[in-house]
Amino acid sequence: PSTHSAISLNINGEKRTLSVDHRTTLLDALRERLDMTGTKKGCDQGQCGACTVLLDGRRAVSCLQLAVAAEGREITTIEGMASGDQLHPVQQAFLDLDGYQCGYCTPGQICSAIAVIEEHAAGWPSAVTDDVRPEAAPPPLSADEIRERMSGNLCRCGAYVSIVEAVARGAAETQAMTS
Ligand code: FES
Ligand code: FES
Repeated sequence: PSTHSAISLNINGEKRTLSVDHRTTLLDALRERLDMTGTKKGCDQGQCGACTVLLDGRRAVSCLQLAVAAEGREITTIEGMASGDQLHPVQQAFLDLDGYQCGYCTPGQICSAIAVIEEHAAGWPSAVTDDVRPEAAPPPLSADEIRERMSGNLCRCGAYVSIVEAVARGAAETQAMTS
């Protein structure tokens, strides 16, 4: 039987067609087949979060997703977060507040943070705030809650203090834009 399939992926609103080995991860398809190197490979086994992308708006580590299984889903990578020259508020906050040192974990941190802000706004529980709040507007994301919700994104440089500050600022600005 053939070990390859032609697939069509919806990435940042654009349709990309390619032939992949069935074992190809979404991460390798992005980086090695489509030259989309914004998404980073750290551990390649689901432990560091460097490869985080959004699948249908929810966070996913692309090293644990098969490219063939991503067909039909809406894939958003770091390259799709800005609107033209206008950075996403979370990107801008990372820049303004130096939310990085070497920058290798940063695309994954930003993708994760953007989803965290939506999860929080939608009242999804976390280990820090375990109440579901479908009715009430959520309070601002606390530093503890950011640390908890972002705990799947490791930073080998240890830039966590400024990462948390950048996510908090990005959350406040996203909320201001949507309210
Ligand atoms: Fe995917 Fe580390 S490279 S989680
Ligand atoms: Fe270097 Fe996070 S900034 S790994």
